[in-house]
Amino acid sequence: MSGIEILGTGSYFPEFVADNDKFSEILDTSDEWIFPRTGIKQRHIAVDMPNYAMGVKAAENALENAGLSAEEIDLIIVSTCTPDFFYPAMSCLIQKHIGAKNAACFDVNSACTGFITAVDIAHKFLESGAHKNVLVVASEKLSAQQDYTDRASCILFGDAAGAVVLRKSEKKFCSFMGAEGDEFEALYCKVHYESNCPFYDKDKDYYNNRFDTFAKQNYLVQDGKAVYKFAVNAMSNAVSVVAKDFGISPEELDLVIPHQANLRIIAKATELLGITPDKVYTNIEYMGNVSSACIPVALDELNRAGRVKPGMKLCLVGFGAGLTFGSIIMDV
Ligand code: COA
Repeated sequence: MSGIEILGTGSYFPEFVADNDKFSEILDTSDEWIFPRTGIKQRHIAVDMPNYAMGVKAAENALENAGLSAEEIDLIIVSTCTPDFFYPAMSCLIQKHIGAKNAACFDVNSACTGFITAVDIAHKFLESGAHKNVLVVASEKLSAQQDYTDRASCILFGDAAGAVVLRKSEKKFCSFMGAEGDEFEALYCKVHYESNCPFYDKDKDYYNNRFDTFAKQNYLVQDGKAVYKFAVNAMSNAVSVVAKDFGISPEELDLVIPHQANLRIIAKATELLGITPDKVYTNIEYMGNVSSACIPVALDELNRAGRVKPGMKLCLVGFGAGLTFGSIIMDV
């Protein structure tokens, strides 16, 4: 089985920064509460741009880093759970703005696991030979879905985009993905349709009032403790399973880039896996949780710092709403 080569990486985050003190101006909260429980000091917020515009910038950075023109891309896969449009797919908007006129386009949504899903799909398309140069973008505007009166949720999330350009290689690649749909109510954001369909039976208990209250209907809803517990197990299990498939133990990994949900989740899972903490990269302190964009943004930081080196065994691991989880180990 073939693997993938990362030809280039890119990222983008908006200029506006909301640090923990900014949140204590609008909520009964403080840096003293937030930082020790989450590891977050600040997050970037897209106050004046749509989600796809961040994706465009990350994609352009990745193409430049790869030394490829947009016309050379023949497939764009975008991961987002915070799209600007129901349709078209955000990948089509990105295609238009970067000028990738030869690319097929589609989006995936497995929430915070989305980048893993998108890279895994890209790997399969590359392996089949159907496509040659695949652009994967993860772009998320979580600020659009937050209830800024809910201090246990809104403080966690920020906005950003990350991208990679991928090509087939003969290097080793293993992946693992799973979902626990039974647990979906632990973390969700429901579409709120203001339909004027005259045939609807307004008295029926449709999904609009089944899951949450009127006040919450446009926003992310989560059971923080349930998600926390799930996330520790999901991260450690996903890494263990893919490491076994790869034929190594987790301690033999050179670099692990986990989804950045909470520093304590990452620390606990790292301990359970027996991995030395300095091999596990985090940027949550200054980025917050940017859903599926967390991993490619971190990958871009590491790549540009020269810390992703040939011969390394690189592990990417994600988890999130669904509930979903996924992991990849690849030879760089
Ligand atoms: N500032 C001050 N107090 C806060 C607060 C904040 N930002 N958020 C919650 N609190 C308070 C609560 O109101 C509650 O007070 P009470 O005991 O007087 O009612 C108390 O702190 C405990 O709240 P709880 O929600 O039980 O906190 P927690 O210990 O579970 O921590 C999270 C909350 C969100 C930090 C934690 O559950 C978590 O990180 N979960 C994972 C969420 C996640 O990562 N989601 C995305 C996954 S991809």
